[in-house]
Amino acid sequence: MLRYVLFTSLLLSSSIMAKPFGDADKGKVKSPSCVYCHGANGMTNNDAYPNLAGQNAKYLYDSMKAYQDGLRTGPLAEMMAAQLKVLNDDDLRDVAAFYASQPVQIAK
Ligand code: HEC
Repeated sequence: MLRYVLFTSLLLSSSIMAKPFGDADKGKVKSPSCVYCHGANGMTNNDAYPNLAGQNAKYLYDSMKAYQDGLRTGPLAEMMAAQLKVLNDDDLRDVAAFYASQPVQIAK
């Protein structure tokens, strides 16, 4: 029994580790509307909007979930929640993977 439990948990953990967090290529296609504020590759010159490039995928995913779930509040958070209305959980992972994969370019 113990052997079975150990084997199963090993299988589970390796399958979780083997699965990358979202698909960056799909995420690029799923995020055309974000370009206006966050820039084509997640770097923006507008101080009012956060850069997304190079950020941790899990953090980006969690922050987008927080907007969708109404856990981030205020006018800008409501605006962001509206941006994410049509994206489902897989979409959020893919979009997060895309921005996480983009290089950080420091503005001059
Ligand atoms: C009209 C401008 C605008 C558009 C379009 C927009 N965003 Fe945002 N985004 C913002 C602003 C402003 C914030 C910061 C809001 C706040 O104060 O919480 C933000 C925050 C975020 C954050 C959290 C960043 C962090 O560091 O916590 C993520 C992730 C994000 N946006 C992703 C997206 C995605 C994905 C799209 C497209 C589906 C998108 N945004 C479209 C303006 C925009």
